[in-house]
Amino acid sequence: MDKNKTISGFSKLSKRKKIKWIVENFFKDPEHVMKEIISHWYKDEEKQQILDEISENTITNYSLPYGVAPNFLINGRPYALPLVTEESSVVAAASSAAKFWLDRGGFHCEVLGTTKLGHVHFFWPGTISQLQHHEEALIARLLEVTAPLCARMEKRGGGIRSVRLRDMSMEMDDYYQLFVEFETCDSMGANFINTILEAMADELKAYFADQAQLPTEQQRPDVLMSILSNHTPDCLCRATVSCPVGDLTACADVAPEIFAERFARAVRAAQVDPFRATTHNKGIFNGIDAVLVATANDFRAVEAAGHSHAARDGQYRSLSDCRIVDGQFEFWLEVPLALGTVGGLTALHPMAKRSLEMLGKPSARELMCIVAAAGLAQNFAALRSLVTTGIQQGHMKMHLGNILNAVGASSGEKDQATEHFSEHKVSYQDVKEFVETLRN
Ligand code: MEV
Repeated sequence: MDKNKTISGFSKLSKRKKIKWIVENFFKDPEHVMKEIISHWYKDEEKQQILDEISENTITNYSLPYGVAPNFLINGRPYALPLVTEESSVVAAASSAAKFWLDRGGFHCEVLGTTKLGHVHFFWPGTISQLQHHEEALIARLLEVTAPLCARMEKRGGGIRSVRLRDMSMEMDDYYQLFVEFETCDSMGANFINTILEAMADELKAYFADQAQLPTEQQRPDVLMSILSNHTPDCLCRATVSCPVGDLTACADVAPEIFAERFARAVRAAQVDPFRATTHNKGIFNGIDAVLVATANDFRAVEAAGHSHAARDGQYRSLSDCRIVDGQFEFWLEVPLALGTVGGLTALHPMAKRSLEMLGKPSARELMCIVAAAGLAQNFAALRSLVTTGIQQGHMKMHLGNILNAVGASSGEKDQATEHFSEHKVSYQDVKEFVETLRN
């Protein structure tokens, strides 16, 4: 093993020393790379320090494009959506779907629930009925000890909604849970929930330690872990668009009835086939994640919740659905969204703050509606392309700039290529050859 490529005490080094060690041991051109790494720092030292302290062992910033999709009409209110994504054509697709639905009543979004969940996982050598004997007294004590921790959240209208015992002993010997429901208002609530759960775990142990009448082993429940669940089936939002089928003329060269039918079949394919459903839902998350990243929300948590929701009946299915009834086209998305508009990084990350300002400083419920609309818009745009022209035509047009940059095209070459490829199919090879021909 090359000893130079491992180190102890890396986290204790200053930022510059970290960079020095990295570039000297992992790059061929350390001086140049060091300059490049430093060139991505904010000039404003205070802002840079905030970013540095968000994570650990930070050496620089990693930029992603921050785009805007205007014309989103959501529950009658117009929004411009901030979208952070590395994928070309996502912002264009969202913008085009938003514009399309702007003239057809926009997106109707409804929050179906905001309950968040967490569990204390523990082992107790006894039966559920023995355990239930203690349920009432135990829960009273859990609520009593956690009351001070909930005071601020309760003032905002949130707190613990319920606590119960869950019998998991059929799945694993002696396995039980404290199953806790929370309302965390405008915060995502992860820290609040985990703090409460850990306090409950301590009290669970204390409660049984006080039960001198029980056999010794029952006085010592073994707490395995205390953690929120990202499966939040009751923290749910539904976004819907609908219009008379006849109003879908702008979507395709074919008759709107044929387009609507092909669209509905594409959704149905994702309902019945997990291979298609995974790609279909990925397209939905193209829109959802872009808003989540822009507003510093936890996109991994939301994706995990979305996928478990998509598999709720045992088969992985589409998160969106579609029906055509009495000449009316209706397309909707139901997705769990555990979001926050206060706390976390929402006020700390300089651009997350601006994103929320752009959205009119929404509550978490309002942000759920916005995010669900972004997901549905993206899904609509993807399916509209897929069942008509195919996805590559639009995608490659949007990707042209990346290819031109990759082949090092000058601005003159870019102009000529853009004009040429407005009428020709874009592929990496064709663009490369076109630029080479220009140069020759
Ligand atoms: C590409 O990022 C997303 C799509 O594949 C989604 C879909 O197939 O529905 C276009």
